[in-house]
Amino acid sequence: MSNNFETISHDIFLSVERNSPHIGLRNPMVGAGPADYKWLYPEDIFSTEIFWTDSFWTGQLWLAYMVSGTSKFKNLARMRYGHLNRILDTPILMNHDLGFQFSLSAVADYKLTGNKEARTLALRAAEALRNRFNWNGNYLVAWTAGSEGKEHAEKIQGKIIIDCMENLPLLMWAYSETNIESFKTVAIAQAETTIKHIIRDDWSTYHSFDFDTTTNEPIRGGTYQGYADESCWSRGQAWAIHGFAQLALMTGEERYAEVSSKLLDWVIEHITDDLLPVWDYRLPEHEIQYKDSSAGSITAAGAVLLSQVLDKFGNKSTAEKYRTFGIKMLLALREQCDLTSDENAQGLLNQAASFVHVAKELDKENLANSMLPYGDYYYYEGVLRAMGHKKFFW
Ligand code: GLY
Repeated sequence: MSNNFETISHDIFLSVERNSPHIGLRNPMVGAGPADYKWLYPEDIFSTEIFWTDSFWTGQLWLAYMVSGTSKFKNLARMRYGHLNRILDTPILMNHDLGFQFSLSAVADYKLTGNKEARTLALRAAEALRNRFNWNGNYLVAWTAGSEGKEHAEKIQGKIIIDCMENLPLLMWAYSETNIESFKTVAIAQAETTIKHIIRDDWSTYHSFDFDTTTNEPIRGGTYQGYADESCWSRGQAWAIHGFAQLALMTGEERYAEVSSKLLDWVIEHITDDLLPVWDYRLPEHEIQYKDSSAGSITAAGAVLLSQVLDKFGNKSTAEKYRTFGIKMLLALREQCDLTSDENAQGLLNQAASFVHVAKELDKENLANSMLPYGDYYYYEGVLRAMGHKKFFW
């Protein structure tokens, strides 16, 4: 397989083009199995068609449109506006992932084409995200109590998660469009709460942090998807690396680039030699060492993004170090996980871990080892960043 980024990006483009008629208006959620490269959709797994993963395929369509200017990708992406409106009309299924859902769809459309309808939709989503903020506790609650029954509600009230860093760009974008200060205030407050409570002193991260819902006093860090409360879920670390680099870019605050650098340095010290993250960096040896290529692609895209941000701040030598690391990670994905040469593969990368605890509980290996649409989106973004693209949808 060629290691040239022009070729990799072309292979990805061809895969997206090949699979778009089959995927149609559906939104891939997870692959069918370790060696079964078909997509499953939220409606195949839950009784809902709305899920946090809904725009990662759309994001790939917009990337394909960005590099080719071919209308069919734009048209297919736009045909999802009915679905995006349904998300905004279904408050019980809305959560902090409005950021992912609308940055990679409506904001992408507006940034690439100036479509005013898309701008309106994205601003509605940003308002809904801002309205989730707890002004007394200074946090953006992740999930919505009542969306998955009583037991879930008890576990998640007052909980924030590190993934939220990638939802903040929607707020920062809304601020840049409208000049309404509260969008920025909420984004910065959530980032500061994350620094204070989720990032540990050694620059590894908790996945989650709980607040007392009556007093809003901080309780403790923990995990939802990682191996253990005191471990370090690799995708969580990746969300934070990309998220803080992006926040540095959108605010012009160098301090956030420093946070992203420290988080990335921690990964550089702890990642295995194959540069493909295990799903939790502190997984004990007796556990099955499932890999998570999505943690790999998000970290890699984040590393190259961070290098672009540091370059802007004039920190050339550190920028080069992270760019080199990001490129090595992308090439590791190319060598070990890339499916683009398989005509029957519907996604780009195998070996991704969505939710290992649930995989064990339900005996569904595909939740621990298969394709993931977010792994794919960030792979495409990372490859384009490695080629020098700087403008994306965040
Ligand atoms: N944001 C949920 C996940 O990364 O699995």
